[in-house]
Amino acid sequence: MLSPEQLATFERDGFLVLSNFVSRERCDELKTHVEGLLDEIDPADGAGLTVFDTSEQAHGDDEWFLDSGDKVRWFFEDGAVVNGALTVPLRLAVNKLGHAMHDLDPAFEAFSRTPELAAVAADLGFGDPKLLQSMYIFKQPGIGGEVSLHCDHTFLWTEPQSVIGFWFAIEDATQENGCLWVHPGGHRIPVKSRYRMIPDLTEARMQTLDPEPYSTDDLMPLEADAGTLVLLHGTLPHWSAPNTSSRSRHAYTLHVIDGVADYPADNWLRRPPELPLRGFA
Ligand code: FE2
Repeated sequence: MLSPEQLATFERDGFLVLSNFVSRERCDELKTHVEGLLDEIDPADGAGLTVFDTSEQAHGDDEWFLDSGDKVRWFFEDGAVVNGALTVPLRLAVNKLGHAMHDLDPAFEAFSRTPELAAVAADLGFGDPKLLQSMYIFKQPGIGGEVSLHCDHTFLWTEPQSVIGFWFAIEDATQENGCLWVHPGGHRIPVKSRYRMIPDLTEARMQTLDPEPYSTDDLMPLEADAGTLVLLHGTLPHWSAPNTSSRSRHAYTLHVIDGVADYPADNWLRRPPELPLRGFA
């Protein structure tokens, strides 16, 4: 799937943009499927009013979040929940769905496990790719939250580092509606932090490894039409702005790790033995 030039670009920049990787039609189908899933959500059900806020990481002690590695759960935008109630219609309040749609939902499974993606993973050097995490991100109009500058290795730690993000634009992503921004070549910067469970295993916290924050000076926007796949190296700093526009910016991300790497037990995302990680087949 990937030419030697594309692999060299990924190696050099830490990211690779593959336009028209999936059809706009496939994106629309996934979007319609997601709308159906949202219709089934009862916000009064269980603990499901968790706000996903990457700046404060306040969800780090929240069971709804911490137990979501083997489930399909929803999280709300900061600003959409006030005093335990939604301030906008649910369809416009959801920040994301996560984190195991690729294993539990047939439509997401079909989107995530294709021969083309398996070939890309093989080209990237995965010996034993494992689909660890899936997220459907809404970036809602007007209230879609910022995703703070981070690298994915911080959150999905393996030894050695192996995670690669497969980021799909499901809708057109522009600077106006909060597209991705990346730091070309920034994957060579040693990772700044690690998000991990604290020893009693009831709460996840950010552990600082280097107090010097990533520079924002070198970020460049990655505007992407629906159907574009962006590959993100696990140590590449990336960011997205709040969406203050009137258009949503839906995206789907799949995070893949290598089964030959060690996956520490104190990662926040945990899988029970009943739902083992699987590859692209
Ligand atoms: Fe990320």
